[in-house]
Amino acid sequence: MIRSAATLAAVTETVDTPGSASLPFYQPTGDECALFEHAYNHRLPLLLKGPTGCGKTRFVAHMAAKLGRPLYTVSCHDDLTAADLTGRYLLKGGDTVWADGPLTRAVREGAICYLDEVVEARKDVTVVLHPLTDDRRILPLDRTGETLEAPPGFMLVVSYNPGYQNVLKALKPSTRQRFLAVEFDFPAPEREVPIVATESGLAENRVVPLVRLANALRALKGQDLEEGVSTRLLIYCATLIRSGMKPERAIRAALIEPLTDDPDIRAGLLRVAEVTLG
Ligand SMILES: Nc1ncnc2c1ncn2[C@@H]1O[C@H](COP(=O)(O)OP(=O)(O)O)[C@@H](O)[C@H]1O
Ligand SMILES: [Mg+2]
Repeated sequence: MIRSAATLAAVTETVDTPGSASLPFYQPTGDECALFEHAYNHRLPLLLKGPTGCGKTRFVAHMAAKLGRPLYTVSCHDDLTAADLTGRYLLKGGDTVWADGPLTRAVREGAICYLDEVVEARKDVTVVLHPLTDDRRILPLDRTGETLEAPPGFMLVVSYNPGYQNVLKALKPSTRQRFLAVEFDFPAPEREVPIVATESGLAENRVVPLVRLANALRALKGQDLEEGVSTRLLIYCATLIRSGMKPERAIRAALIEPLTDDPDIRAGLLRVAEVTLG
């Protein structure tokens, strides 16, 4: 299929090249950094499982910088096709020219390719991932007739959130059994407090009650709530308070309203906040 350059907007992609900038801040919660390095050294693909906003993207950015590899990040969505990842012919002036997609560029450059929320992508995406995730490590490009062999620096990392996926959207065993996997969860309070304080600039003693509240709200997951408060939302809340917003207002905007649209559940969450914060 030939598309004009404008339609490439279907791919949300960011490229980070290793430079002199310091490593993106990442507070490990277990042995995930060592596991990532082993996977990279042995040329094995990695699957990150865990709820949204718990640090997966930050972890990959940190590890790519640490290993000195460029990073191609693609946010997958239900319109994302294999061609969005591999590339396509584009019309330029009167000519058609081949344009590599982010996966192809990562393979050519020996970069890390991170497919965020991979289960959202169309089914044909798994077809291009399979030969890259076994010991062949190849990417056949049917349209150009090329078969690229991934250099040692190439690594495929994918993430997904098992929490809210339905059966239809689960990763197929034939795909998931090609990846090493590491499970992410929200950091324990003694780790989450410094993360939120560092990211927001709010003093740790003021972050402590927010983290306590977040854990009280997370405990409700499964009963009334689909997803617990993320570390990301906690950072938003702390950032608002840091910039002068009243804590009650910031908590409502960042920790309560994003979780539910149901007035009864919202009232319940507000009560939990009152009780937890005293
Ligand atoms: N372990 C951690 N170390 C440092 N920052 C973290 C950590 N976990 C979460 N964060 C913060 O939370 C934000 C959201 O995390 P992110 O990596 O985007 O989540 P995910 O990709 O899992 O949805 C990050 O931008 C970062 O500020
Ligand atoms: Mg992410």
